[in-house]
Amino acid sequence: MQSGSKSLLSGKIHGSDMYEKINGEINSSAVHVVDLRSDTISKPTPEMREAMANAVVGDDVFGEDPTVAELERRSAELLGKEDALFVCSGTMANLIAIMVHCSHRGSEIISGDNGHTFRFEQGGPAQIAGVQTSLLKNNDDGTFNLDELRDSIRKNPDCHEPYTSLVILENTHNMCGGKVLPLDWIEKVRNLTKEYNLPVHMDGARVMNAAVYLKVPVERVVRDVDTVCFCLSKGLGAPIGSVLAGSKAFIDKSRRMRKVLGGGWRQAGVIAAAGLVALDKMIDRLQVDHDHIMQIAKGIDEMKSKTFRVDLPTVQSNILMMYLDVSRITAKEVQHRLASVLETDEIKVSVKASSRDQGFVRFVAYWKITKEDVEAAVKKIQFVIKEFDTKFNNEVKNV
Ligand SMILES: Cc1ncc(COP(=O)(O)O)c(C=O)c1O
Repeated sequence: MQSGSKSLLSGKIHGSDMYEKINGEINSSAVHVVDLRSDTISKPTPEMREAMANAVVGDDVFGEDPTVAELERRSAELLGKEDALFVCSGTMANLIAIMVHCSHRGSEIISGDNGHTFRFEQGGPAQIAGVQTSLLKNNDDGTFNLDELRDSIRKNPDCHEPYTSLVILENTHNMCGGKVLPLDWIEKVRNLTKEYNLPVHMDGARVMNAAVYLKVPVERVVRDVDTVCFCLSKGLGAPIGSVLAGSKAFIDKSRRMRKVLGGGWRQAGVIAAAGLVALDKMIDRLQVDHDHIMQIAKGIDEMKSKTFRVDLPTVQSNILMMYLDVSRITAKEVQHRLASVLETDEIKVSVKASSRDQGFVRFVAYWKITKEDVEAAVKKIQFVIKEFDTKFNNEVKNV
């Protein structure tokens, strides 16, 4: 921040258990705030609110909520699975899947080392399910090496070893920058795991984005996995909720597991009603979010900065990582400057972004982000890049 210039909007940074949050304090109505921290912050659409107000409900633990039943039926149909279960979050969906697949004590799951279930679900598999995780290094595209997968599977484990009980994939891959798993790779995982009679679960929090990117029905994307969950509360805009799908037997067990985790909800139709609107109205429009993220990526790429970089050819969905030269700058500094507006700034735009470490700043698009927001965000990001680059160039000259 320039000395002597007053901040109209200061990007105070607060650590949180999920993302680094920036709470700008708005002192000027002239400031245009573009909040690209996450698609989880998307609010329900007016149509969702109306559907929620009018929802027909009952006690879902008694199996008497028709709106929840309809959401589960429609979700199962969409995913091409026998049955589905409405749960409160992606974290709960993944945990239930792990607990049902790993009911054998002494179980082990195999997952990518950058996966959400491993990195950001509080060690739930270990903490609650009593399951050990074996990690494979995630490639940049969200996949992992299949030879390493084969090596990691415990074949005929003796009494010293755990049982390999599940393989987990993530699609799109959040921390790999919203990458869409290649369909032929998922098929190879399927063929390999079949040899060992091993089930595959897909954390498909954003699997609808994957389907839209690939231009195939989502049923095709999840064809080769046994179970899958997706979130209604991210790019699809619903306020709460995820859906877990699989065979009828798997969902019967999952329903029971949900109850012991405290996830049996009563008149949940009020929320499921928003989920039904999400299925009807919010999937096809995800392409708009992908286009917006591409526009931001191009805006960063055209700066040809040595310090701020995007990998343009691999930008695929609604998540963008702007990678930083950490020898020059930290993610917190960039976050702070993007969110701040100084009196002396020509551009009165505050861009909120998220970051989990020093190496990148993440931008995520969702339905509320408009064309005007994207244009404003590009201007601000370019302004900040230029400002830092000029500073670094001057420092080099002065050495
Ligand atoms: C890939 C992935 N899986 C699971 C989750 C967890 O979802 P929830 O926040 O609903 O628990 C997230 C949340 O961001 C996610 O990105």
